[in-house]
Amino acid sequence: MKNIILLTVLFSFFFGNGQKSKLSSEHYQNVRKAFRQKMPDNSVAVLFSAPIRNRANDVDYIYHQDPNFFYLTGWHQPHSVLMIYKNPQSDSDGVYYEKIYVPERDNYMEMWNGKRYDLEQVKQLGYERVAERLDFKNDCDDLGSFDQVLMFEFKNDIRNQNTYVFKDNIRFKVDDPHDLFDLKATFREAINFPNNFNRLAHKAYQRIMEADQESLEKIKEEVEYLVKRDSLLMEDEIIRDFLKEPDQDFYREVKRKTAFALQNYNFDLETLPIIMRDMREIKTKNEIDLLKKAVAISVVGQIEVMKAMHPDMGEREIQGIHEFVYRKYGAADEGYPSIVGAGENSCVLHYIENDKEEINNQLVLMDLGAEFFGYTADVTRTIPANGAFSPEQKALYQIVYDSQEVAISGSQVGNTFRSIYLSSYDIIAKGLIQLGIISEASEARKYYPHGLSHHIGLDVHDPGNYQDLEADMVITIEPGIYIPENSPCDPKWWNIGIRIEDDVLITNDGPVNLSAGAPRDWKDIEELMKEESALKDFILPEINSLVQ
Ligand code: GLY
Ligand code: MN
Ligand code: MN
Repeated sequence: MKNIILLTVLFSFFFGNGQKSKLSSEHYQNVRKAFRQKMPDNSVAVLFSAPIRNRANDVDYIYHQDPNFFYLTGWHQPHSVLMIYKNPQSDSDGVYYEKIYVPERDNYMEMWNGKRYDLEQVKQLGYERVAERLDFKNDCDDLGSFDQVLMFEFKNDIRNQNTYVFKDNIRFKVDDPHDLFDLKATFREAINFPNNFNRLAHKAYQRIMEADQESLEKIKEEVEYLVKRDSLLMEDEIIRDFLKEPDQDFYREVKRKTAFALQNYNFDLETLPIIMRDMREIKTKNEIDLLKKAVAISVVGQIEVMKAMHPDMGEREIQGIHEFVYRKYGAADEGYPSIVGAGENSCVLHYIENDKEEINNQLVLMDLGAEFFGYTADVTRTIPANGAFSPEQKALYQIVYDSQEVAISGSQVGNTFRSIYLSSYDIIAKGLIQLGIISEASEARKYYPHGLSHHIGLDVHDPGNYQDLEADMVITIEPGIYIPENSPCDPKWWNIGIRIEDDVLITNDGPVNLSAGAPRDWKDIEELMKEESALKDFILPEINSLVQ
């Protein structure tokens, strides 16, 4: 009996599937249609699902779909590929513009890791063509016929995975010939992706090819900039020659060599990220609805913690209350590791250890966001554990609050990310000067070392162009002041870290603060902290009394 259990444990491994989408197949059909319109002529886009990542031994991390893949498909399973074609393709069933490749049914794997789908069932989700993974290999043979193969850069974090086959009722562990590792290897080969590929050198080659008499100087500057980022590029003969002072003949020769270096490649790493960020920075109504829910859930988490907080709590317990609220509302996950930092930990911008056991009377910075059907909130409140801000905490808090107020009201269509950042910086700099913490505005960067704002969506730091604010963007507004110990100011300010972060929908009628339900004003926070918590009677036995 013991042996059987042991064997079962040894043969188990977890990966499961990512979370299913809540949006309709029509939503995704529309997204893919809009995507196709942005593609260059005679191009194909190839996107892969996220890899399964190992946590330790035979346990993997919970699967999370790649946000770009999910954005275009809503498909939640690993080992899958999407192809979208600009121009019509045809097969015996007629014309099509897209094909998704998914894992085939496998009773044994499904017993461990959950349901897979028949191709017909996947088709019901609105894809024009659905194929098994092994067809991908055949279809890769045609990639040479496209002018451009749009793709993201490969990352080297995929494992070659196993599967099981049965012979005479005996189970054998074998290499899965169609896992993501093999799918990408097939693709790499089909597009002739160089083993020693250097992204910057490739970029430089492409710029060199674009250079003409008029743009030569500008492109030289660009290539010089790339060389600054990686000085080894100067060892590349083509790049070195290009950066010399060429006469026309010499220059033509460099271009000829560059063309030769590029001729075997039709892959394109630039266009796909641009299309994705152009699309993803503007949210559809369906996406906004999901984001509103993710934010509303996160707001309840902040409110409940404000009521429940007391000085005997540890950071982890506070984190647990937020995350319990998220689960209670059906949010499967957090959009990023929860940050709960008290005292000196509040000064660590992305502090995620959350292991201080006693927070006493310190200020607690809580930066957390529920992920609701893929879409994540990102909300921060900073509150005093004992329910009352000290004079120093209050003075700094008020500056961050004022800075945030100015930035939120400036979050208007037509303003830029830069302009609202500068408005927030200005308030913080003036406030810190007034308190004698700094003497000139440029020093404020030391205590406000991060940006003001980013898009949220399927990623907590969602892609975007970060230029003008436009309607239907959803962005954070998150100024902060952090004064770690030993900073060059009066020690009474040390170990105070404050961030106030809200999620703001940009509309033609002005900004809408989606997280306004969680108090921000220090007086409102103190008032709410006096209220009784729903967890008041949630009293668990002392752990030592339970240990045998
Ligand atoms: N929670 C990470 C951030 O605020 O950007
Ligand atoms: Mn945050
Ligand atoms: Mn943020």
